[in-house]
Amino acid sequence: MKVRKAVIPAAGLGTRMLPATKTVPKEMLPMVDKPVIQYIIEEAVASGIEDILIVTNRAKSAMDDYFDYYPELETRLNQAGKDKELAEVRQAADLANIFYVRQKETKGLGHAIWRAKRFVGDEPFAVLLGDDIMRAEKPVTKQLVEAAEKYDASAVGVQKVSTQAISRYSSVKVDALEERIYAVSDMNEKPKPEEMFSNFAILGRYVLTPEIFDILEQVKPGYGGEIQLTDGLKELCQKRRMVAVDFEGRRYDTGNLNGFLEATIDFALDHPGTGPWLKRFIQEKAARM
Ligand code: G1P
Repeated sequence: MKVRKAVIPAAGLGTRMLPATKTVPKEMLPMVDKPVIQYIIEEAVASGIEDILIVTNRAKSAMDDYFDYYPELETRLNQAGKDKELAEVRQAADLANIFYVRQKETKGLGHAIWRAKRFVGDEPFAVLLGDDIMRAEKPVTKQLVEAAEKYDASAVGVQKVSTQAISRYSSVKVDALEERIYAVSDMNEKPKPEEMFSNFAILGRYVLTPEIFDILEQVKPGYGGEIQLTDGLKELCQKRRMVAVDFEGRRYDTGNLNGFLEATIDFALDHPGTGPWLKRFIQEKAARM
């Protein structure tokens, strides 16, 4: 099994970040000095992915523009001798082979993934949710790809969350296979505490086999009246082997304000251009609080 393709669903309406995301896609909000989606693409590339499909909608064309060349700007930067900025602007456009498809109707994550059917063809593929940024020594998608290859299985990235928090995620039924890797036999989306299978929640990363597309075609609307990917995966794990990887790394949900701010502060503290200054700024503030 070789995973060369990835799908990034980025067609949500961004309703948890309004009014900022009324006209700016939430994936394009700046995380220190790069848009959120660039971190996701960089993770995919660092995990060995060559071709990436972004599932967008009619309000998200800023994303396609960002990953394109911009000759007027580049000429101006070149003339001004701004080599660093020029290299950064070009690098974003040269990161990967990026393709786009529109979801056309906002019918849920499962429906967005189903739009990738023609792009994916008959290969396993990774899914990286467009607002979940990961910080990890080994890219989280790579951790999943390695497990999927080892077990010739599909894979979902999980971490333990509190019983109170599980209703924001999907909960998976697991049996241990080895350290950090589990066999998956069932799951449900946004369970109430009494319905959950375990505290392991799927957090934004998947490696799927193409059987998922025929399943998604049949899946009925579930939680929130939407076609849920989790409902498709529940069926997939019963047909074919699926593993859960308790991945190493920190996940930031940049699709809500708190997660976005946590990521901004952590990334800015680590950034050589802003870190030392921000640390002093926070210390001074904290001393006066
Ligand atoms: C989606 C998935 C859910 C998953 C979560 C976090 O939910 O449907 O299964 O646990 O992402 O990755 P959403 O955040 O879109 O409500």
